[in-house]
Amino acid sequence: MTTYNLVATSAMGLEGIVADELKALGYTTQTENGKVYFEGNERDIARTNLWLRVADRVKIVVGSFRARTFEQLFEGVKALPWSDILPVDAEFPVSGKSVKSTLFSVPDCQAITKKAIVEQMKKSYMRLGFLEETGPKFKIEISILNDIATLTIDTSGTGLHKRGYRMDQGEAPLKETLAAALVYITKWKPNRPFVDPFCGSGTIALEAAMIGQNIAPGYNREFISEDWPFMKPEMWEEVRDEADKLADYDQLLDIVGTDIDHKMVEIAQKNADEAGFGNVIEFKQMQVLDFATYAENGVMIGNPPYGERIGEVEEIEDMIMGLGDMMKKYPSWSVYMLSSMENFENLYGRRTTKKRKLFNGFIRTDFYQFWGKRPKR
Ligand SMILES: C[S@@+](CC[C@H](N)C(=O)[O-])C[C@H]1O[C@@H](n2cnc3c(N)ncnc32)[C@H](O)[C@@H]1O
Repeated sequence: MTTYNLVATSAMGLEGIVADELKALGYTTQTENGKVYFEGNERDIARTNLWLRVADRVKIVVGSFRARTFEQLFEGVKALPWSDILPVDAEFPVSGKSVKSTLFSVPDCQAITKKAIVEQMKKSYMRLGFLEETGPKFKIEISILNDIATLTIDTSGTGLHKRGYRMDQGEAPLKETLAAALVYITKWKPNRPFVDPFCGSGTIALEAAMIGQNIAPGYNREFISEDWPFMKPEMWEEVRDEADKLADYDQLLDIVGTDIDHKMVEIAQKNADEAGFGNVIEFKQMQVLDFATYAENGVMIGNPPYGERIGEVEEIEDMIMGLGDMMKKYPSWSVYMLSSMENFENLYGRRTTKKRKLFNGFIRTDFYQFWGKRPKR
């Protein structure tokens, strides 16, 4: 086994949660904007890909150096140990980005990086002609920030938000990674009732169910690094077996998702069936203001529509006012809403206990948190 420098990337604002996830898995971390660095071997690459709920990707950091000229870039890339990771027949597309740096032409940086890797590989593997690139794929990224070039290789492939359960979606589905982050922020535990009254395609409820039963989010999908020669199939099998043992399929859950649109309810049900929660989560068609419960200490998490047209906005504002009024009847419940509406607190009619800025894609939103009364001891 080899020890690699690894980085788990995430959406801005979620890196702290990814760092907590990595710490819970036993790693020592170092956090930067949208990035959490840690060290690990091949098994750790498999394990983190399988278990991280909030990260976008896990990447190997091949190296980092200052580069203000194309020559420095070429020599810096060539000096890195590519042939220790890439087999001679590796296919290795190079993508790039440059922020606040002297070298700003991304296509040129990509081409130079590619050329330098080819040269290092040819020398190391003693090849004279072309490299065929007929083998497994290694997606390389050259990223230059403040004149520091960092070279990474993606071990995940498709982003980690793709859990493999989404058969269909509505117009504004939440990314699975953000949905999992919302559930983590609420500190919901599986012994508490859980409701998403704007469930759409069911993402938040499904992520809660996976957290509740400790199911690895990547259990049912594949990763690009499964094709790499040093990521042995037996090791992946071991890591999947371990995940299977850690899953608590018997954990009872009281998770309900409702939506005014019956088509969304059908989609949510289809996704839940695919994820194996068809009989665990209850989805039903309902207008949010018809919510009623005898349960105590529940958690309500949702992402109501933000509204684009004037009439629509007014309708949503009325609905949020109604929601605030209605939830006064349930003081033990905690309510968490992700919304871009800046007047949300006023509409809801209560000051938040906490508010957290989060990006839903490119939309700036707040996660409005209205904590319920503490349960009596
Ligand atoms: C932004 S989407 C939620 C997306 C969801 N989180 C997902 O991942 O698919 C908002 C949802 O609220 C639903 N909705 C709008 N008005 C509603 C109301 N008055 N009561 C219940 N649901 C409503 C819409 O049908 C829509 O599916």
